[in-house]
Amino acid sequence: MSLVAYTIQHAVAVVAIDNPPVNALGAAVRQGLAAAVAQANGDATVTAIVIASAGKAFIAGADISEFGKPPAAPLLPDLLDAIEASAKPVVAAIHGVALGGGLEVALACHGRVALPAAKLGLPEVKLGLIPGAGGTQRLPRLIGAAKAFPMMLSGEPISAGLALDYGLLDEVVSSDVVAAAIRLAEALAAEGRRPVTSTATVALTEADRESFEALAKDALKKADGMPTVPALVEAVRATALPFKEGVAVERKLFLSLIADERSKALRHVFFAEREVAKVPGIGSEVKPREITAAAVIGAGTMGGGIAMCFANAGIPVTLIETAQAALDNGINRIAAIYDISVSRGSLTPEARKQRLALIKPAVGLAAAAGADIVVEAAFEEMGVKKQIFGELDRVAKPGAILASNTSYLDVPTIAAATGRPQDVIGMHFFSPANVMKLLEVVRPQGVADDAVATAVALGRKLGKVPVVVGNGFGFVGNRMLEQRTRAAERLLIAGALPHEVDAALVDFGFKMGPFAMADLAGNDIGWRSRRARGLKAAVADAICDAGWFGQKTGRGYYIYPQGARTGQRCPEVEALIARISAEQGVTRRAFTQAEILARLLDPMVNEGARILEEGIAARPGDIDIVWINGYNWPAWRGGPMYWADSVGLDVIAKRLEAQAAEAGDKALEPAPLLTRLPAESKGFAGLRTDS
Ligand code: 3HC
Repeated sequence: MSLVAYTIQHAVAVVAIDNPPVNALGAAVRQGLAAAVAQANGDATVTAIVIASAGKAFIAGADISEFGKPPAAPLLPDLLDAIEASAKPVVAAIHGVALGGGLEVALACHGRVALPAAKLGLPEVKLGLIPGAGGTQRLPRLIGAAKAFPMMLSGEPISAGLALDYGLLDEVVSSDVVAAAIRLAEALAAEGRRPVTSTATVALTEADRESFEALAKDALKKADGMPTVPALVEAVRATALPFKEGVAVERKLFLSLIADERSKALRHVFFAEREVAKVPGIGSEVKPREITAAAVIGAGTMGGGIAMCFANAGIPVTLIETAQAALDNGINRIAAIYDISVSRGSLTPEARKQRLALIKPAVGLAAAAGADIVVEAAFEEMGVKKQIFGELDRVAKPGAILASNTSYLDVPTIAAATGRPQDVIGMHFFSPANVMKLLEVVRPQGVADDAVATAVALGRKLGKVPVVVGNGFGFVGNRMLEQRTRAAERLLIAGALPHEVDAALVDFGFKMGPFAMADLAGNDIGWRSRRARGLKAAVADAICDAGWFGQKTGRGYYIYPQGARTGQRCPEVEALIARISAEQGVTRRAFTQAEILARLLDPMVNEGARILEEGIAARPGDIDIVWINGYNWPAWRGGPMYWADSVGLDVIAKRLEAQAAEAGDKALEPAPLLTRLPAESKGFAGLRTDS
């Protein structure tokens, strides 16, 4: 069946793409479009052509799954040249999104009409690319480089209204976009006018070029090593050349970026993000419960942040504390955060007022009675949680979801404090909850499928990336983080210093290393947790014994003079570390950055493999999404499991064996999956296609 339908309406050929779900421009669509344009041009009864599409999008772009595979004719740039060269005018009828190659199709047309809800953008940069089918040449010529460059740099789509203002659209119509496109096509045909964006007559003005250069200078300064920014600047500069030459520059840059490891990793992230939305065993027949009112228990930093998430999404939320003073503090903290947003201009005073009005403070759990979902964000202690859930069981309405924001504790034990375990789930937010994208939805045995579906749907409504994980200490993210924390401590004792360990991770692409992070979060948090679990960490414990809790005490692994946020090396800490090495009979030695990185990340990958074996994460990509959205793993590195595949699981397994032998720690030995997969000539990616 053809993916492109061809009909004639009023002597206009209407070419309609129907390639669900989003009309991506795969080879069959390109062939269908090329054939349709040729057919219309060969038909003497046809005066003009309209390109439209079925379904929810105009066109979401090139088919990303074809990238990296041998190209099939016609190539998109060639197809677009054929559209633009059509002797009969071609008009795009845009509904839904016109993204990437989709917008480039519209740009090659001679006219563009859209519905008000349409969104137009060139998001290639999010995949580590630049537009590769003439977009960098046609868009600046049509709307000016000073407007086109920021669209391509951010990758964010613009509204139909703005596109009309920019001159990107000829018309925005409230309904029947195809009929409007037919009218425009007929008018262009009648006038004999066929405006095109690629001719030498469409050139950038001097003023526009200057404005663009100023924006380019700023962007290059902030590029942070990402190759897309200089490539984009070079491509837009090439608009000074004749169109064909400019396109050749764009093509060359596009092809070099598509082969770049960073773009490959970002494409993996794109598909992993979509896969994570599919919860094993829960199909579309499972409908989420309706959530019109929420309650959050605990007005501390975490609870307050979660309450803000609800208010930001327009959901009324009751914020509950045990005492008025704590409640007042919590509300004041929330108001102060909104104030900062207002002062930065990212929130209007009106919106601030509306959001605060949605947060209703209350003392006592009885106030949770009206909520469709209750999120508990109280003290991380089982006794406290059990008591709260026992009481919630009495006050919450039937069918309400009872969620715990626990980061480590056993969710079934919490559920057992109620008579309704089918409604009890984990919703693990990350701090600051109003900012961080990750939401671990913990799915204990016995929870109802529609409760899981509700938590996932709600998470998306709150602007989060929900990842469903199994129940188990630390779930996915914190369980792997613990391995990295232990590895960092081992490195100190073996001979590395905090700044060396941190630098290895920062150079890898993290914003912060483990010790700067610990100083920021407060070293006492881990200390207390270790003590509660009877665990020891010689250096970390000694630092806390000395009262060096981090930034809040002016010193931790580093010194922070007069409230500085960046720490300086601390000779006392370094001496303390050397002393502990000596006490443990360790001869300190120097480590290269590559060694440090391997020692930090390999144990995480090993834990990730165990997490997969135990079914705590459904797919390796889910683990990648957790680390990218919750722990600042650089997206262009694809996540820990993707990274492991790129290194080679056999290499990692060997390194772990060596580490296990050196440390005399069996826990560091490679997980069975880490040895099984390479033996089958597979990586984690192979697991995904097999499952
Ligand atoms: N290629 C291949 N598959 C695509 C795709 C694309 N461009 N865009 C979306 N899909 C697939 C998704 O993988 C998903 O598949 P699945 O159901 O099997 O998991 C399905 O379409 C639906 O996608 P979403 O779950 O994301 O649906 P939403 O409704 O939430 O979002 C969207 C729709 C806004 C179109 C979003 O999918 C999106 O942003 N897509 C990517 C757009 C993009 O980056 N385009 C540029 C591509 S690069 C390019 O065009 C190069 C050119 O310059 C040469």
